[in-house]
Formats: sequence, C-alpha cells, structure tokens
Amino acid sequence: MLCGGSGSRLWPLSRRDRPKQFQTLTGGKSMLAKTLDRMRAGREADTAIVVIGAAEHEKALLEAVEPHEPSTCQVILEPMPKNTAASVAIAARHALDDGDSDPLMLVVPADHEIGPDNLFWETVADGMDAAREGKLVVFGVRPTRPETGYGYIQIERKADQQSPRFLRFVEKPDEAKAAAFVADGNYLWNAGIILCRASSIRDAFERLQPAIWKRVGKAYETAAKRGRSTLLPQNVFATIPPISVDHGVLEHFADIAVVEARFQWSDVGSWEALFTLGDPDANGNVVMGDVVSHDCHSSYIRSDGRLVATIGLEGITVVSTADATLVAKTSRVQDVRLIAERLEQQA
Ligand code: GDD
Ligand code: MG
Repeated sequence: MLCGGSGSRLWPLSRRDRPKQFQTLTGGKSMLAKTLDRMRAGREADTAIVVIGAAEHEKALLEAVEPHEPSTCQVILEPMPKNTAASVAIAARHALDDGDSDPLMLVVPADHEIGPDNLFWETVADGMDAAREGKLVVFGVRPTRPETGYGYIQIERKADQQSPRFLRFVEKPDEAKAAAFVADGNYLWNAGIILCRASSIRDAFERLQPAIWKRVGKAYETAAKRGRSTLLPQNVFATIPPISVDHGVLEHFADIAVVEARFQWSDVGSWEALFTLGDPDANGNVVMGDVVSHDCHSSYIRSDGRLVATIGLEGITVVSTADATLVAKTSRVQDVRLIAERLEQQA
C-alpha cells in the first residue's frame, strides 16, 4: 500500500505533516483507514498487508494499522520521499523475502475513494490469470471528464474478449489531449493499482531500473526493525533515483495487461474531485461545516472551524481551516499545488 504522497493539491487541508491519506475527506474514517478496511475485506486470513510511507508520518501510520493484526499488517518507513518506483520495489523485495515463495502482489494507493468492496475485489480477480502468467496488470477507469491530473491507458476493445488489449500509457496529458482521449472512447484513466507476481516486477526492475532495485535491496537488508515498523536507512535510501513507477517501469514494459474497473473510483486528487464526489444541495453546492450561503450555485464550500459566509458564488471553491483559507475558481483548483509549493519554498 503506497502511503507516502504529499497531497499538495488539497492544500490547505492537506499539509506536509498530515497529507491527504491521513485526512477524513468524504466522511467517516481517514483515506488510509478505509483502504486498510478494503484490503482486509478481500484478503485471505494469511495475506500480508504492508503499508509503505514516510518516516516522518510514523505515528499516524502506526495509529492507522493499530486495529489490524500485527503479524500480517506491517509498516515500512522511507526516510525521504523517492516517488513510487522505489516504494513498489520495496514492496516486491519484502514480498520475496522468505526466498521460496513468489506471491501475487496488489499495489494500491492509500488515498483513493473506491467502492463497493465486492466490485473492487471482483475486478482484481479478473486480473489474476494474467498476473499469474507474469504480466503486470493495471486497472483502467472509464474517464468522465478531461482530467489532466491522471495517467491515461490507450486500449483496443475486442468484441470476443472480456479484457481490452493494452496499447500504451500517456501520463498526465495537457487539457486538449485529455479532451481528445475522452472523446475517443479508447482511453481509460490509470487507477494507479498494479497486480503482479512479485518476481515479475522484480524482473522488470532488474532490467529497467537496476540501480533502484539494487539500492532498495541494500536498504531493505540493512533496515532497522522496531516493533511492527521497519525503518529504511537514510544513507542508502538517499542514493535512490526518484521516479514514478509509471515513468520508470510501466511505460517501458511490454507485457502489460489491462482490466477495466467495475468499481467506482476517484483519486480525490483535487477539490474539484471532492466537489464531484459530494452530495449537492438544491443549488448544486456541496457544503461542509459551519457555512451560510446566499444565492450561491455549483460551488464547494467547506469550513473546518470558523463560520464562513458566501454570497453570489458560481463555480467557486472555498476551503477554510484553522490557519488558512483558499478561495479559487473550481476549474483552476489544480493550481493549488503551485501555492503549496510556493509556501514550502518560503518555509
Ligand atoms: N511510500 C510512498 N513514497 N508513497 C508515495 C510516494 C513516495 O515517495 N509518492 C507518492 N506516493 C503514493 C501516494 O500517496 C499515492 O497513494 C500514490 O503513491 C500515487 O502517487 P501520486 O503522487 O498521488 O501520483 P499521481 O496521483 O500524481 O499519479 C499516479 O496516480 C494516478 C491515479 O491516482 C499515476 O499512476 C497516474 O497515472 C494515475 O492516473
Ligand atoms: Mg494521486
């Protein structure tokens, strides 16, 4: 389970010390807690869950795994973020640790809104045969808007086959390309979930990213075990090239299979995504917390504390937390990342 992202597009709620995966975004539990529940719902009793996150979030990670059996739910801590290729390599190294077995691995981000669980697991089951044969199986979601924050998978549909044929990945296209992909009908959003044998992804790393595989191996072998968490050493980890698993491995690997998701999926990667997921009132507003609105339409208005009053808004996002307020055109909320980066530089 990948749990080390910074979630900068959900500023000001998501902060470096408490990013998106630890937040309660859509009610109930945190994204990580919901993902752990989903994993537990579908697995067999002895299946291991490993949460790979940042050492600086150790406390929150341990709190989240607390309700789960320590023998089958472990935490691996990265001393610094090195993007997802390193994390997936760590998961594979961990899965292959006992030497004899070559288990199937399901790589899932810890910060996605997914449901219902039974359709999620039925979709995963659709990819099992291809994964057992040595393919890297990715999961595609039918796009509903020209989202530029996702990767796309180009497919070819075959009338006589249940699964489409994989053609190529296109990571985070610009708006015009994304719109063309949605109109084309033969592109799916990459859900960021991978199913494969641990040995298949190891072989892919050895061929395509040998430095990552070697250094992850060294880090894993010299890691410090403390209770249910394992801390990877800073000196080795610092030398790992930072790259996403998409750019570093998947885009160069020939043997990819794609399964079309039958479940509801959102990366919840922006305030716009949360607006889409929310329950709109009669004026199309999604409102959370202490908010009073007059003549507002199609807006996302959220207060995590102080009273927020809005008048005459249309297509606007307002997020108020204890120490910061965001006001943005909803169509521009992807740019919140720029604000979060600027603040990070100033800090
Ligand atoms: N442990 C760890 N360490 N996890 C990480 C790190 C890291 O350094 N960096 C990111 N993650 C986690 C995030 O928390 C998230 O759960 C997952 O890995 C994916 O990383 P993101 O940074 O959120 O990637 P993205 O959303 O921009 O793009 C990826 O996911 C999209 C779907 O959500 C790509 O795979 C896209 O193609 C895909 O559409
Ligand atoms: Mg993401």
